[in-house]
Amino acid sequence: MKKYFLFTLFLCFMQITAMAQLQNTQPTLMTPREHFGKELQILIDDMIETMRAEPGVGLAAPQVAVPLRLIVVEYGDDENPETPPKLYVMANPQIIRASAETERGIEGCLSIPGFLGEVERSLEIVVRGQNRQGKPMKVKAKGWLARIFQHEIDHLNGVLFIDRAEKVWRAEEEEHAQVTAVD
Ligand code: NI
Repeated sequence: MKKYFLFTLFLCFMQITAMAQLQNTQPTLMTPREHFGKELQILIDDMIETMRAEPGVGLAAPQVAVPLRLIVVEYGDDENPETPPKLYVMANPQIIRASAETERGIEGCLSIPGFLGEVERSLEIVVRGQNRQGKPMKVKAKGWLARIFQHEIDHLNGVLFIDRAEKVWRAEEEEHAQVTAVD
């Protein structure tokens, strides 16, 4: 079986100029009564559409200039490439467990166009949050899915992959193509 490239592209729509702003923004914690209404449903659908159009594997609300603690993630299974990608919508995500075991992987972000970096992340995590209706949900993620959740949750805290990367480099065009390619 062919092995998936351990590369992926994370969606980031913030311009460099807006990044400083994001870093100072503390997105709002969402409460059911105030937040889980029709407007939120529209926002979530827009975020999913934007993520898919790119195509990307995740998006955080502050990346589309909405200061809410909300992420969408869509990714398949590392071990079963035939399995269709699974969509996660999570409000107020919180990592409640992170493995001490870590792994390095290459990440990119449209907030920092043209650059890639090697980032060390926990191999396995448990994330707790709420679904799009405000009901509690919990996700156990491993490998690349765990990485995507960590990358997106970082966005909610104003942290970008370059803040964590041990090595950042300018990507060649082919390398960027590879980032989205699944082989
Ligand atoms: Ni990003």
